Amino acid sequence: MDKTEDITLLYQITQILNQTPDLKESLYNVLDLLAKTMHMNRGAITIFNPLTEDITIEVAHGMSESARQKGVYKLGEGITGQVIQTGAAVTIPRISRDSRFLNRTASRKSLGDKEFSFICVPIKKEKQVIGALSVDREYDPAYLLEKGEKILYVLAAMIATKVIHLERIQLEREQFKAETGRLQMELEKKYRIKNIIGNSNKMREVYQMISQVAGSNATVLIRGESGTGKELVANSIHYNSKRARHPFVKINCAALPANLIESELFGHEKGAFTGAIQQKPGKFELADKGTLFLDEIGSIEPEVQVKLLRVLQEREFARVGGNKTIAVDVRIIAATNRNLEQAAMDGFFRSDLYYRINVFPIYMPPLRERKTDILVLADFFLEKYARENEKKIVRFSTPAIDMIMAYHWPGNVRELENCIERAVLLCEDQVIHGYHLPPTLQTGKESDSLPALSLDSAVARLEKEMIIDALKHTRGNISQAAKMLNTTVRKFTYKAIKYHVDHRQYH
Ligand SMILES: Nc1ncnc2c1ncn2[C@@H]1O[C@H](COP(=O)(O)OP(=O)(O)OP(=O)(O)O)[C@@H](O)[C@H]1O
Ligand SMILES: [Mg+2]
Repeated sequence: MDKTEDITLLYQITQILNQTPDLKESLYNVLDLLAKTMHMNRGAITIFNPLTEDITIEVAHGMSESARQKGVYKLGEGITGQVIQTGAAVTIPRISRDSRFLNRTASRKSLGDKEFSFICVPIKKEKQVIGALSVDREYDPAYLLEKGEKILYVLAAMIATKVIHLERIQLEREQFKAETGRLQMELEKKYRIKNIIGNSNKMREVYQMISQVAGSNATVLIRGESGTGKELVANSIHYNSKRARHPFVKINCAALPANLIESELFGHEKGAFTGAIQQKPGKFELADKGTLFLDEIGSIEPEVQVKLLRVLQEREFARVGGNKTIAVDVRIIAATNRNLEQAAMDGFFRSDLYYRINVFPIYMPPLRERKTDILVLADFFLEKYARENEKKIVRFSTPAIDMIMAYHWPGNVRELENCIERAVLLCEDQVIHGYHLPPTLQTGKESDSLPALSLDSAVARLEKEMIIDALKHTRGNISQAAKMLNTTVRKFTYKAIKYHVDHRQYH
């Protein structure tokens, strides 16, 4: 390439840059022209993103789209990374002899055994390096690489404004991504609290407490009967805290005997006891920077209570069979359905440990004390299990609702959930009926004082409900209703009269 060719090239490039309104397209056309005139096989314009410190290939020539996307570097990494970091061009006569070559895009493999030269120059905005322009060229001992480098320098200056625009767009895109990421997190937060269903005043107090305490590192003690949602609240506190991205580790203190729980909590050294073949980290270590949920803390044996108290106070401990102290940064959430004050008075629970964990108690009200939540929860579980089982069940029948409302739910939300799940499995049409609910609910109001219902009256109740339902379904058409229930019009009418059901009401 002689001088006139050089000038023609520059002229053509000016033309391209002025004439192509699309940023990327104009830069692509420049690379295309370089390929034709400088015998270059591959060219790329990379951009440095100061936010993420990533260097990405924005425009490429002679490279597949997937290869382009793979070409992500860090500042100082590879040759491009070095050029962007130092602001000085790099020219390599034969890349096969240079160890700095990362070939991350793997696009040179396909070119067989040919040898390539590589030139990379910085693209600058005033003194700041915003990216790089690089080309590959088949190795030719007769070609003056310095000259190629100079031409690229001029080119880099010419395309700089275009690249600046690209960089801005990319920055905006990044900021947008960061913004949506933040929104996503907020949504996640809302979602987490939304996970907990119930609008009763008592539950509102619970939400209030969760939001008050989540952001702090305070130890939380969640109390309440079995099945009231203690674990759900523990989850929600963790995921609404600054520790959300760190582990949430759970241990059920009631499920393990004293000797095992100690090693579960604190880990053990190799050979600490028979069966300790390997060193094992405990839950405290695993929960570092995150949250440790001590479920059923009331069941912990006194000997382990002492050790637990020590970690809570000192934030350090030693593994079983070891003497090295390990420091951890762990937030504690504990839960219990026991009366800890009573246990402390009776000497089963250390009172110093009780005071240590009772910093911020949250009391989960039993379901029978928040009746307004029952149907909301029932609907929620109906939808959940209908979806899971791919059934189209839309509502509860009125008698079913009455039964659900009348029951005292000793097993709280868990019992309600199980009951609805079972009903969904049994249900063959679009409505959950009373007879889909478990027998304990069939007794209605009398449920506190066990069965007051005979088989006959239970059957009668069921029959009546099915008859009413069939009539609702057929808008009071007796023959269709009888058909629905697989019976004769005569039997149907007889039963309807027996149960004082008037089909005309359903017209
Ligand atoms: N308010 C609620 N909204 C939605 N689901 C709930 C709610 N409360 C409890 N649940 C569900 O009920 C079940 C029992 O809840 P959870 O395990 O949190 O209770 P718990 O208080 O820890 O019970 P236990 O003391 O028996 O361990 C879970 O499946 C949970 O998702
Ligand atoms: Mg629990």
